[in-house]
Amino acid sequence: MTINSFLARRVLTANPSATKAVTLKAKQLRDQGRDIITLSQGELDFDTPQPIREAARTAMDQGQTRYTEVAGSAELRQAVQHKFQSENGLNYSLDQIQVASGAKQILFNAFQATLNEGDEVLIPTPSWPSYPEMVRLASGEPRLLRCGENAGFKLTPEQLRAAINDNTKWLLLNNPANPSGALYTQSELRALGEVLQDYPQVWVIADEIYEHLRYDDQPFTSFAAAVPELSERTLTINGLSKAWAMTGWRVGYCAGPEPLIKALNLLQSQSTSHASSISQAAALSALKQPHTFITECVTELTRRRDLAVASIQQIPGLSCRVPQGAFYVFVNCQSLLGQVTAAGQTLDTDQDVALYLLEEADVAVVPGSAFDLPGYFRLSYGNALPQLEEAMRRISVACNNLVAGGNV
Ligand SMILES: Cc1ncc(COP(=O)(O)O)c(C=O)c1O
Repeated sequence: MTINSFLARRVLTANPSATKAVTLKAKQLRDQGRDIITLSQGELDFDTPQPIREAARTAMDQGQTRYTEVAGSAELRQAVQHKFQSENGLNYSLDQIQVASGAKQILFNAFQATLNEGDEVLIPTPSWPSYPEMVRLASGEPRLLRCGENAGFKLTPEQLRAAINDNTKWLLLNNPANPSGALYTQSELRALGEVLQDYPQVWVIADEIYEHLRYDDQPFTSFAAAVPELSERTLTINGLSKAWAMTGWRVGYCAGPEPLIKALNLLQSQSTSHASSISQAAALSALKQPHTFITECVTELTRRRDLAVASIQQIPGLSCRVPQGAFYVFVNCQSLLGQVTAAGQTLDTDQDVALYLLEEADVAVVPGSAFDLPGYFRLSYGNALPQLEEAMRRISVACNNLVAGGNV
């Protein structure tokens, strides 16, 4: 018997995380002694703030080391309830709130809880590569809706209406978006919501994990607040990973219609039981902190974003829009395609470009095709300024070393 005949079909047909694959390759090169700068990761280089770490230590010392309620401790859910009320103008009862081991687990469970074979999930792309994989793992069909650069990488109401059919179950809206940094305005959200009012079978997942990482004082409106008419079919997902530099703690939370949250709790009760009690204590502390840390983060990230964008605009063959949220620049590298490296290799695809930058410039980025938009690559500015500066210098040298196709 081979291992493949032992493994389930759902595993054999799933794709591993493209972002993690690049990061792994970068690590292998680093282990060989190469000075690789990783701009492929989905996390910030900041440490989790000290008071949050302290709260976790205290929780351990005070014996908060036992099982909690499946949906998360009542105290933490109250803090989540207060967050939604005070920051987003959304009112939920405690039974409409769940805490889980990361926003990712909530997404995974939401698809497991709602999709039957053939059910479709509309995913505007470029998008986080995990979305379609999670849909497939739940026997659903991801419908990828490409949103080009001219549309600001955003879904239009016309595109949405044209994509809906009888099998459509969810629209997945990530705002602000990974990898494009696009941020939907309140009126853009309303326009999408108005389309959905004609299709009562379609529900909305609003993945708002990057809510607090926005630039230039751009306002943020939660989808459920922009379109209250749809609140009975909207699952709002958020978490601590990005804004509080807490990726490793694995805490996310969501709010939505009570029957759906009940279904998510059922799945959670038969899988992980609940998020770690220590991480829940840390999350409670994070939700009670003033936003000083986030404000400082955004100030620092604005510097990094501006440096990355200014550098890209000066590199021949590269261009980008100025991202309004998250911490990624989605770089257009279409003009590099067809160019030839000093070693005589033609760069035919965005994967070739990413590999060239890794091997020639010692900089790891993620090719756009991983996000369903070829001809681009994603660069994360989660790294400190000096590293980012050096990475941009190296990318510039590597791009300047290319020769137009046909000249060699
Ligand atoms: C769009 C998006 N949603 C969700 C997540 C997962 O967040 P968490 O760490 O809370 O699972 C990520 C992480 O990269 C993300 O980019």
